[in-house]
Amino acid sequence: MGEMSPAQAESMYFNNYPPPKALQKHESLARAFIDYHVEANRRLVLVTSGGTTVPLENQTVRFIDNFSAGTRGATSAEYFLQAGYAVIFLHRQFSLLPYSRHYSHSTNCFLDFMDEATCSSSAGGEGPNHGPIVVRDEYQDEMRDVLRQYRYAKKNNLLLLLPFTTVSEYLFELRSLAQLMRPLGPNALFYLAAAVSDFFIPRDRMVEHKIQSSEIPDSVRQQQQQQGQEDAIDPADVYTGENEAQPPTNSKKLIIDLDPVPKFLHRLVDGWAPDGSMIVSFKLETDPGILVYKARTALQRYSHHLVIGNLLSTRKWEVVFVTPDPPHERWIRVPKSKRSKSISGVEDQVGLAEHSRQLAAGGGGDQANESRPLAADESELSRNGIEIESLIIPELIKMHSQMIKART
Ligand code: PMT
Repeated sequence: MGEMSPAQAESMYFNNYPPPKALQKHESLARAFIDYHVEANRRLVLVTSGGTTVPLENQTVRFIDNFSAGTRGATSAEYFLQAGYAVIFLHRQFSLLPYSRHYSHSTNCFLDFMDEATCSSSAGGEGPNHGPIVVRDEYQDEMRDVLRQYRYAKKNNLLLLLPFTTVSEYLFELRSLAQLMRPLGPNALFYLAAAVSDFFIPRDRMVEHKIQSSEIPDSVRQQQQQQGQEDAIDPADVYTGENEAQPPTNSKKLIIDLDPVPKFLHRLVDGWAPDGSMIVSFKLETDPGILVYKARTALQRYSHHLVIGNLLSTRKWEVVFVTPDPPHERWIRVPKSKRSKSISGVEDQVGLAEHSRQLAAGGGGDQANESRPLAADESELSRNGIEIESLIIPELIKMHSQMIKART
């Protein structure tokens, strides 16, 4: 696909895949939602969230996935709603959702927030063994707050949740939504936090049925051939597991040959998105030495407005805003005393990407790594930590306001 124009790559890709089953339904929900907010002259943000899957078989049993839980997207959506934006939340099915994220998945199981109240039989209940279910005292205030915000968003039709699973579903949905958002003009904002797969198996190379891990007996194969089944399994396609009682005679590894997923950010910026809208993409890296470089390259390649760079190990505590205009690179960090704990995070690495950038630019790089692991006596503080999205979203809204102002 290297020599194709972005528009050619687009038609090649989208003509090769059937649209997702839910696309029409999602389009009509989105159309009504967008119309409603165009009418109210309200700003609307499309937040993409979570990872995409890459199926290995057409009738999919196995797929490639990535780490993203959708925390960035779900948390950001809440801060956008708080600031008065309407939100289309295009998310990986079963990843974290705005508001319910506080009480879902194994880290915050909702059952841990509840209790069975004691109930005297005189209160008219069904006796002392059937007290009503209540929220535990220590969580009342926080849960009331979350519940109110959730209800407000629902009552005022401010949040539309649309799920995807595979990378192709994501791309179809993104294209449709961007095109439907055109009437919003500069009031539209794209916040692309999803972790989109970079490699996939093109449709013409994808097998129909589950890839086999053991031999198919000759009798079954012959039967298939007699029945004229076109996709009778070729022995060359068979993977034979290594743990069989009889060592297989025909042992094969499973080798997966993946193509790069065409990058559609170009088409989003230059074709699908409304004129004057603001487009923000994310760049994730694990190597502090290349983060800013990669973010800047993406900004130059796609000519959009902002790339937010983050490292896998520090993404809950620091991000870098990379923009075409000065200051070009701006770090946003949660102050040390306000950092929440993160199981996967490595606090020692906060500051490393900026430091290596200063060294590369020939600066002294005096700013030593300003972090250290949380000491035990700081655990109290960490419970009151702030979310980095509470710092990201207001900054972004300022930039969006300036863009809107510049066009009016
Ligand atoms: O969900 P969490 O656990 O909280 O993690 C959040 C996050 C780390 C996933 C998030 O903050 C993040 O960085 N997301 C982007 C990951 C990334 O590096 O994306 P990318 O380099 O593959 O793509 C860059 C941009 O191009 C993305 O905004 C994407 O929407 C877009 N893209 C990607 C692939 C593709 N084929 N077409 C695209 O348009």
